[in-house]
Amino acid sequence: MRIYVPGDAAARALGADEVAHAVQAEAARRGVTVTLIRNGTRGMVWLEPLVEVETAAGRTAFGPVRAADVPALFDAGFGDHALALGPVEDIPFFARQTRLTFARCGLTDPLSLEDYRAHGGLEGLQAALPMAPGEIVQTVTESGLRGRGGAGFPTGLKWKTVSEAEGPRKYIICNADEGDSGTFADRMLMEGDPFALIEGMVIAGLAVGATRGYVYLRSEYPDAIRVMHTAVDIARRAGILGAHVLGTGPAFDMEIRVGAGAYVCGEETSLLNSLEGKRGVVRAKPPLPAHQGFLGRPTVVNNVISLASVPVILARGAQHYAGFGLGRSRGTIPVQIAGNVKHGGLFEAGFGMTLGALVDDIAGGTATGRPVKAVQVGGPLGAYFPREKFDTPFGYEEFDGAGGLIGHAGIVVFDDQADMLKQARFAMEFCAIESCGKCTPCRIGAVRGVETVDRIAAGDTAAIGLLTELCDTMRDGSLCALGGFTPYPVMSALTHFPEDFTAPRREAAE
Ligand SMILES: Cc1cc2nc3c(=O)[nH]c(=O)nc-3n(C[C@H](O)[C@H](O)[C@H](O)COP(=O)(O)O)c2cc1C
Ligand code: SF4
Repeated sequence: MRIYVPGDAAARALGADEVAHAVQAEAARRGVTVTLIRNGTRGMVWLEPLVEVETAAGRTAFGPVRAADVPALFDAGFGDHALALGPVEDIPFFARQTRLTFARCGLTDPLSLEDYRAHGGLEGLQAALPMAPGEIVQTVTESGLRGRGGAGFPTGLKWKTVSEAEGPRKYIICNADEGDSGTFADRMLMEGDPFALIEGMVIAGLAVGATRGYVYLRSEYPDAIRVMHTAVDIARRAGILGAHVLGTGPAFDMEIRVGAGAYVCGEETSLLNSLEGKRGVVRAKPPLPAHQGFLGRPTVVNNVISLASVPVILARGAQHYAGFGLGRSRGTIPVQIAGNVKHGGLFEAGFGMTLGALVDDIAGGTATGRPVKAVQVGGPLGAYFPREKFDTPFGYEEFDGAGGLIGHAGIVVFDDQADMLKQARFAMEFCAIESCGKCTPCRIGAVRGVETVDRIAAGDTAAIGLLTELCDTMRDGSLCALGGFTPYPVMSALTHFPEDFTAPRREAAE
């Protein structure tokens, strides 16, 4: 009997380790031989721990399972039971997805290279190896892949710039700092399918002529750090990394570096400083990292999901990937649904579904059962969307046109009890705490922003004009998007929910 209990951090936080122990103990007590696999997560967090059992008809799921449920599951022969969910692929949240980047996540044993190969792993690298570097870049360009870290910059164009840059050594840096609120796609991928990221980095190295890679991974992800370290060791021993990629290719090796924990160190130039052992302060551009990045050498900085999407593009072809999506947003996007929702988790689908469909239909509305008031899209620098804008389709240009941004595709849902003035204050406070301090509009502006919101909360509605002017200054005058985009949450809260800023309040914002 093969039983899968996720080893993913979210599943573990919900008791997966206890369930795994209970499965082993119960199997031993009954004398049943069980092969226990700690897979990644399928991404349906409200069903975790989601236990799967292999049957003749495929994998069938049970969830959410507590350790105390395990004896009854054995009694039922992992068949008819109140927690039975049927085949995983038939669960509506899962069935409606198009899983390209996350195809293996939750399906395989994350640290089994055999399992990885059995499910299409390394096909992209094998296709890339005989190609000329320019052909790989061309394939990625034609796929339409854009950076999933936030800015949506075309990945092929970035690689072309690095491939054409002169330098004795070039680098591939994976940005795994994942600081946006409500996001977890990078973590889920690294914990659930680490070889996909390694394969993507190796292909990037072949494409631009880089021989060394680093994953800059946030310290708050101990499980991902452990899995990635082990996966790199396995890949090195298997010859995927080393002096000759897969025995015949050029050299490429990589290592994992752990960041000390600062939101701004997710910004690529700040990340490079941190990686070089310096303070995580933003660098002025130019020079672009593509020309002078890590240690002054030409460097690709890409998000985990951008890199992990590359193998499937090489394996199935640019046109297959580009066949999904909307307008200039091609391929799939793993939307991370969080906050006050019934069904939180990761939903990968082609660009184009509307925000409303995601919130009302796929996420099932709020966990509290109250009406949705606002949805923040794109992390702490993203705008709050009111219900009137729920028909906005997921697409970079479409969100931009609606006064927002997709960012790393995290959505955080709030019900009608949310106080949008407090959310605006939080945005300014977050910026004040996380500011690297390099430029005045952000360093000073965010502090003045908190004070100004407090004045409004105390009844000084004349300060609303001042807040608007301050946001204009931060937007136009900041060196990077931390100061430059903080006005998005503040101004969207003010514009769409003015009553929260003008209604008499019993207390000043905390
Ligand atoms: C304040 C700030 C924080 C950021 N945090 C992240 C992050 O955690 N992860 C990420 O991939 N990109 C982050 N970015 C975007 C990066 O600067 C950069 O655009 C990205 O790593 C490039 O990779 P991509 O083209 O694959 O998206 C951040 C940007 C800013 C301004
Ligand atoms: S906007 Fe803020 S985080 Fe960005 S460079 Fe200026 S001070 Fe640093």
